[in-house]
Amino acid sequence: MRVILAPMEGVVDDHMRDILSAINPFDLVVTEFVRVVNQLLPEKVFYKLCPELLNNGLTPSGTPVRVQLLGQEPEWMAQNAIRAIELGSNGVDANFGCPAKTVNKSKGGAVLLQYPDNIYNIVKAMREAVPSHQPVTAKIRLGYEDKSLFMENALAVYEAGASELAIHARSKTDGYKPPAYWEYITEVRKRLPIPVIANGEIWNAADAKRCMDVTGCDSVMIGRGAISLPNLGDTIKTGAAPYTWLQTLTLLMAYTEKELNGRKSDYYPSRIKQWFSYLNRQYPEADALFRELRIYKTTEEIVKVLQQTHQSLS
Ligand SMILES: Cc1cc2nc3c(=O)[nH]c(=O)nc-3n(C[C@H](O)[C@H](O)[C@H](O)COP(=O)(O)O)c2cc1C
Repeated sequence: MRVILAPMEGVVDDHMRDILSAINPFDLVVTEFVRVVNQLLPEKVFYKLCPELLNNGLTPSGTPVRVQLLGQEPEWMAQNAIRAIELGSNGVDANFGCPAKTVNKSKGGAVLLQYPDNIYNIVKAMREAVPSHQPVTAKIRLGYEDKSLFMENALAVYEAGASELAIHARSKTDGYKPPAYWEYITEVRKRLPIPVIANGEIWNAADAKRCMDVTGCDSVMIGRGAISLPNLGDTIKTGAAPYTWLQTLTLLMAYTEKELNGRKSDYYPSRIKQWFSYLNRQYPEADALFRELRIYKTTEEIVKVLQQTHQSLS
């Protein structure tokens, strides 16, 4: 069984990947997307989004990291895929799931699910450009407005030579609303000879088991669940007990330390509040603490409340 940490723009950055891969036996983590328009991006863009490239493409605890690209031009996707690999990415992933509208008149993400030929051309160009021992992978949703092209898109990815395919089991129009339509993944898994990774609405180990039972997949990708329950990956893979609130709060303190000592400290208040919005789902205590925290704007105020709460519990 493989458990993969999903790419989450603005949420799963290198610090989050570091913290989460240290406590979960992830098989792979995927970066936020690099937006590719009409150029070969400078190396610094890749290093900023994926500093793990300076560590042989591994998180500090040794989990492989894969860079994700989002764009519509096969040639530029291919050029940037080569760059990602040369800089040390473990394979390269193409994003066909992002719901955002066009940026700089450039399409990318889920909008391409209306055009399986474009998906084929992009993946094929990336596959031809990247050395064959390096995985070229793709992540799709089930469709844009409806799900009618889900199999065409999956086949396009496969026929273009992708090594594996992750499927977020919803259309763009479905957004992030439950349910996830795992049964579509089952059909793709039966049809495609390459590994299919199931994604969507896995919040606990029982969900992961049900998802694998329904889809027949032996690989799952976890996104929001991995932030709501920080050791979700471990609970799925090894049967570990879900973290208690105190364990999670201790992890938050470690994250706080890293954020404050890192380049992101300006964003700390919004980052920590954002994380709480996910933790609330799992822990009633997080909800209560968030109500206390949310009036504070500065890092100092927030850290103080967190420290006091942590001390009173430990
Ligand atoms: C805030 C946020 C940011 C996301 N960013 C990306 C991204 O950069 N690339 C991508 O392929 N998917 C992205 N996704 C989708 C997730 O990878 C995942 O497919 C989705 O959340 C469903 O899985 P889940 O139910 O386990 O969260 C994002 C999702 C969220 C909620």
